[in-house]
Order: sequence, then structure tokens, then C-alpha cells
Amino acid sequence: MFDASPVLWFTGLSGAGKTTIATEVRKRLLTAGVRTELLDGDEVRSTLSSDLGFSRAHRDLQVRRLGWVAGLLSRNQVLVLVSAISPYRETRSSVLRSLPKGLEIFVSAPLAVLEDRDTKGLYKRARQGEIQNFTGVDDPYEAPDSPSLHLDTSTEALEECVGKVLRMLSKECSIDVF
Ligand code: ADX
Repeated sequence: MFDASPVLWFTGLSGAGKTTIATEVRKRLLTAGVRTELLDGDEVRSTLSSDLGFSRAHRDLQVRRLGWVAGLLSRNQVLVLVSAISPYRETRSSVLRSLPKGLEIFVSAPLAVLEDRDTKGLYKRARQGEIQNFTGVDDPYEAPDSPSLHLDTSTEALEECVGKVLRMLSKECSIDVF
């Protein structure tokens, strides 16, 4: 049997840059001939998880579903990039532990920067009370204690972040795309 492929799990607040970085890393991997799939929280919520809201129980279920699909793909030699807030440390850790090669990537920026970016206009709506239980505003986010990688998008440019992820893949998994 072949070994399972890595699962790169991007966690962090909305607008931190998880999907932007994951998409760019994916492009580089595809160009190098590595089979990949991106599981994006928003996309999965519009399909497989369209029955879920944002309570703790539903967020945990979302994370477990993402982990389950990622596990299936990775054991079929597809390198998976997961991009989801996945706010609860214990759930995230237990899903990551269940994967043969799960690597946690914490994507962060100060809340003030995220509110300023407000790419989807959701922080403004949350502050105005139009959205409840919005992560970082009136719902918790538990940062990883010891992620495999921590990227701060308020100080590091996209290309720098992508380079760090690719170097980690080379070091930890001997996947070289440089
Ligand atoms: S998770 O908490 O369950 O891991 P996930 O990453 O799947 O979250 O989905 C988060 C996305 O849902 C955000 O990027 C945002 O577009 C949207 N969203 C809508 N309502 C909320 C909310 N209350 N909290 C966080 N994200 C929300």
C-alpha cells in the first residue's frame, strides 16, 4: 500500500487569509504534479454541511466532517488542504490526531486588522448585531498551542506565507515543489 498524503489544516479567524494561502499553495502543488484537493469551510457549508449553523456542536460537527473527508482523500494519496475557522482546540486536535499526517497551520492577524479588511463585510454586520455568534466578535476562537506553522498575514506577504508552507512540506513530508 502507498502511504497516506499530508493534510494541511489551515485554522484561524474569518478573513485571516486561510483560503487565499491554501489556494496559492494548491496551485504550486498542482503545477508540480501533486494531486490535491481543497476543502473550504464556506464551500462545504453550502453543500455537505448545509444543515449546520454556528453553535459549538455544529462547528465541531463541521470540523469532524472535514476531517473525515480529508482522511478519505489522504489515504488515496491526495494531498488535502483544509481551510476552516475550526475554533475549538480540542476538537481540532483530536481530528488532526486521527489523520496519519495532519499538519496544523495557524493563520492569524490582529482582530483590528481583520475588521479593517472585512473582505466579506461580515465583521461590520456582526458589530451591528445582524449576525450573532460571530467568531472573534461574540464567539470564541481558541488558538493552537503548538501549530506546525504560524503565519501572521498582517506582517508576512502572501508569497512569504506560501514559501513557508512549501518549505514545511519539504522538511516534514519530503514533498519538494521548488
Ligand atoms: S467553523 O467555525 O465551522 O470551522 P467554517 O470555516 O466552516 O467555520 O465557516 C466559516 C465561514 O462561515 C466564515 O468564513 C463566514 O463566511 C461564514 N460565517 C457565517 N456566520 C458565521 C459566524 N457566526 N461565525 C463565523 N463564520 C461565519
